[in-house]
Amino acid sequence: MRVDPASFRLSGGPAFVAFEGINGCGKSTLMRSVAARLRALSRHVVETREPGGTPLGEEIRKLLLEWPGEKKSERTELLLFAAARAEHVDKVIRPALHGGSWVLCDRFLHSSVAFQGYGRGINLDLVEQANSFAVQGTLPDLVVLIDLDPRTALRRIATRTNGDADAFESEELEFHERIRQGFLECANSSPAPFLVLDGSLEPAALVASTLGALGCP
Ligand code: TYD
Repeated sequence: MRVDPASFRLSGGPAFVAFEGINGCGKSTLMRSVAARLRALSRHVVETREPGGTPLGEEIRKLLLEWPGEKKSERTELLLFAAARAEHVDKVIRPALHGGSWVLCDRFLHSSVAFQGYGRGINLDLVEQANSFAVQGTLPDLVVLIDLDPRTALRRIATRTNGDADAFESEELEFHERIRQGFLECANSSPAPFLVLDGSLEPAALVASTLGALGCP
């Protein structure tokens, strides 16, 4: 469900916030700035990421992004993301939320919908089943989606990686277009509240919109 940035406000109390978007959209930078601002307001913040966030999850991340062998089956890829996510929810996200922390997560289950579903073409119901099994009902209070033209994002990645892109970053433009559309579909149809931000805006404007939506302006 896409929320109206002008009126949507969480309570300002601890929340689980996922940051999503295509590769190179600027979500990691935004997440770091939001975390710094929340800490400046004396909030306890856990910053984490997917795939990863736990020792086992970081190993799975290597298998997903740096596997030197033959291209993985798409089902294998989906299940590895789901396995890392289950570990992450059980060992990091749920305990942190129970302990009263904010949790800011660089990518979460909507990345599987966009990348494995819309990008790789796996049936969306199957992606949804893998996600539900992994998270067991732990869902973000807000998804911050940075929407950006993939051409702009790919230019940013080329500058950042100096040609050393990972398994997803090196996909064709058309793949990234499908991911972008997938995220926008999630924003419209998913029950989770989505704050959709224009990734071509200045970083400070994105930070201000996000903090406003979190109820921490
Ligand atoms: P990362 O280097 O963290 O990319 P980014 O900075 O763009 O987030 O690599 C994570 C990659 O894994 C990214 O290309 C998106 C992909 N991914 C999926 O395909 N499915 C998923 O469920 C998740 C969490 C990530």
